[in-house]
Amino acid sequence: MVPLERQPTGSGAERVVILGGGAIGTMAADLCTVTGRELVGFLDNNKEPQTHVYGTPILGPFDLVERDAGLRAACHFIVAVSDAGLRREWLGRIAAAGARLITLIHPSVSCSPSACLGEGIMIFPFTTIYPGAQIGEGCLIEGHACVGPEVSVMPVCVIAEGAILGHRTRIGTGSFIGAGAVSRPNITIGEGCLIGANSTVIRDIPSFKVAVGSPARVLRDNLSLNPALAERSRQNR
Ligand SMILES: CC(C)(COP(=O)(O)OP(=O)(O)OC[C@H]1O[C@@H](n2cnc3c(N)ncnc32)[C@H](O)[C@@H]1OP(=O)(O)O)[C@@H](O)C(=O)NCCC(=O)NCCS
Repeated sequence: MVPLERQPTGSGAERVVILGGGAIGTMAADLCTVTGRELVGFLDNNKEPQTHVYGTPILGPFDLVERDAGLRAACHFIVAVSDAGLRREWLGRIAAAGARLITLIHPSVSCSPSACLGEGIMIFPFTTIYPGAQIGEGCLIEGHACVGPEVSVMPVCVIAEGAILGHRTRIGTGSFIGAGAVSRPNITIGEGCLIGANSTVIRDIPSFKVAVGSPARVLRDNLSLNPALAERSRQNR
């Protein structure tokens, strides 16, 4: 564990600790830099403390946020891991520990003032968020995406690079919309779904399904966010 030096910077910039020192963590680090935040370090369960990721230190494992009151007082936190279940778990644990989440939005993002964004969200370059859109906490909206008017994206979803969500699309908790995928207006995609890259969703997709193609068809169950389904599948093996 690396002790955090808690001297005020004098700049008034928010200090940020990122949970996850992998690819998404480094993307979050870039967002910190371009938005003028002070990047304090990463928490990572699989990397040795005192090592560095692109020059930024690993401070310790994720639960440092629960164990270190000084760190909680000095910093804001963002969960930057690909697994939606893990993101949901740590958003809850950060809140329970009384720590503050931060939302990171690239300056090039066009976001309607009437859009409603939850905490702990990341939005990457050149994405457009249209009026009345709602994005739940812990979502990750990659670059060049388009979240249409009155679209509702529930917590811990990923909208990958270049995806386009038509007017009033509804997306359930923890779903992953692949790169370049498109949804027709008024579509409902359930929770825990995975929509393949470049797919076109023209009909509703039930929860916990993988759907691919144009038009998108259900390929199989998506077990990753549904413990009950995963257990049933194990028993049937
Ligand atoms: C949907 C996805 C998860 C399926 O992966 P998988 O379960 O390993 O599936 P497979 O590669 O075994 O393919 C199964 C079938 O679905 C088809 N398929 C897979 N992905 C597809 C896609 N995006 N569009 C159309 N068909 C697709 C395959 O051709 C194959 O068809 P076949 O059985 O007729 O040969 C994956 O292909 C995908 O699109 N992931 C999203 C990637 C992404 O957008 N990442 C964001 C950038 S990081």
